[in-house]
Amino acid sequence: MSDLTVPALPTVRERPLDPPDEVTRLRQQGGMHRMTYADGHAGWLVTGYSAARAVLADPRFSNRPENMHPPIPGRLAAGKELRERGFQPPPGFFLRTDPPEHTRYRKLLTGQFTVRRMKLLEPRIEEITASALDAMEAAGPPADLVQDFALPIPSLVICELLGVPYEDRARFQDDSKILVNLETGAEEAIAAIGRVFAYLYDLIKRKREHPADDLISGLIEGGELKDDELAGVSFLLLVAGHETTANMLALGTYTLLTNPGQLAVMRGDPGAVENAVEELLRYLTIVHLGPIRTATEDVEIDGHLVRAGESVTLHLPAANRDPDRFPGGDTLDLTRPAGGHLSFGHGIHQCLGQQLARVEMRIAYPALLRRLPGLRLAVPPEEVPMRSDMSIYGVHRLPVTW
Ligand code: HEM
Repeated sequence: MSDLTVPALPTVRERPLDPPDEVTRLRQQGGMHRMTYADGHAGWLVTGYSAARAVLADPRFSNRPENMHPPIPGRLAAGKELRERGFQPPPGFFLRTDPPEHTRYRKLLTGQFTVRRMKLLEPRIEEITASALDAMEAAGPPADLVQDFALPIPSLVICELLGVPYEDRARFQDDSKILVNLETGAEEAIAAIGRVFAYLYDLIKRKREHPADDLISGLIEGGELKDDELAGVSFLLLVAGHETTANMLALGTYTLLTNPGQLAVMRGDPGAVENAVEELLRYLTIVHLGPIRTATEDVEIDGHLVRAGESVTLHLPAANRDPDRFPGGDTLDLTRPAGGHLSFGHGIHQCLGQQLARVEMRIAYPALLRRLPGLRLAVPPEEVPMRSDMSIYGVHRLPVTW
C-alpha cells in the first residue's frame, strides 16, 4: 500500500488509450490505496486485478446508492443529490440493489436473456448493422462513425430486445446521453428520467394488451413484476445496454484504425474476431471510473482492512492492465488470451447483457471493415475528442472517410 492517501481519483489521461499514468504508478506500488472522496470521505482506490476481483466477489460489499460515497464530483455524486431532492430510484433498477432483492430480479432477467432470444436477435443485429452501413455509404464519405454506426446499432438492438418500436428510439438516445453525462445536474437528470418512465409505463400498458415475442412481454407473462418494477428493469437495460456498446464500437474502431498491425489481424482471419473482441474489451475498459462498493462490515482485502462504511472504487482499466494477470497488458494484442478481464465486472452484478454486447461487436466490427475496406480517420488521431468527462469512456465523435 502507498504511504500517502491519494488526494482524489486521477481522471486525466496522458494518452487516450491508457489509464492515467498516476493510476498506473499507484498499481505498480500495490493493489489498494487510501483515497479521499469528493465529499471528504476517507475510502479506498483499488488498482490491482486480484484485489478488484476479491471486492467484486465479496458479499460483504454493498452496491446500494445510499451506502456509497462519490469518488469524483459531478454525475456520480448526483445519486445523493437526487435522493436529497426526494427522488427514489425505481424499484426494478436492480444494479443498485443487494441480495436478496438483487437475486430476485437477476433470476427473472436471466430467464429472459436466453440463448434462444440471443440467437433470434443475431439476424436482426446483422440487418441493423447492414442498414446502418447502407445509409453511411449512400450519404458518402466523410461520416461520423458515432452518430451513423456506433450509436444506432445498440440503440436499435435494445429496442428489439425490449420491444420498443423503432420510431420511439430517438428519445431514448437523447435521454440516456443526458443520464450518463457527468455534467448533468440533478434537475436535468430527474426530468430525463421522468420522460423515459412516462414512455415505459405507456409501452408496458400496450404490451399487456398486445403481447409479443420480446423481453417486456416475457416478463409480463411471468407474472412476478408489477408495472413500476417492469419500468425500472426496462430503464436499467436501456441505460446499461446502449451507451456502453456504442462506445465500445466507436472507441474500438478508433483503436484499430490507429493500430494498423492489429487492424490487419482483425481483417485477416474471421476466426480471430472472437478473441479480438475480448482483447479490445480488456484493453479499452470503457467503464473507467468505477464500479464503487461500500463495506457493510470490516473486510480484509489483500492484507488491508476495509472498515464497515468505507467506500471502495475499483479502477477497472488499471486492474485489466495488471501485469500479474495480463503480462505486457499495456500493449494491444488481439491474439492474446484476454478472457478473465473485468470489463463486464465480476461477481453477482457481472454484466447481464455481456453475451448480447459480444454478439453485437462480433457482427459489427467485421461488417464495417468488410464493407468499407478503405476506412480511415478523416482527422489526425489527436483531434478526435475523447470522453474523459463521461462515466463511460469513448470518443464523442469519430470523423472517418473511405
Ligand atoms: C460493451 C458493452 C458493455 C459493457 C462494457 C458493460 C459493462 C458492465 C459492467 C462493468 C457492469 C457491472 C457494474 C457493477 O458491478 O457495478 C454491468 C452490469 C450490467 N449490465 Fe452491462 N455492459 C455492456 C453492455 C450491456 C448490455 C448490452 C446490456 C443489456 C442489454 C447490459 C446490461 C447490464 C445490466 C442489467 C447490468 C446490471 C447487472 C446486475 O446488477 O446484476 N450491459 N455492465
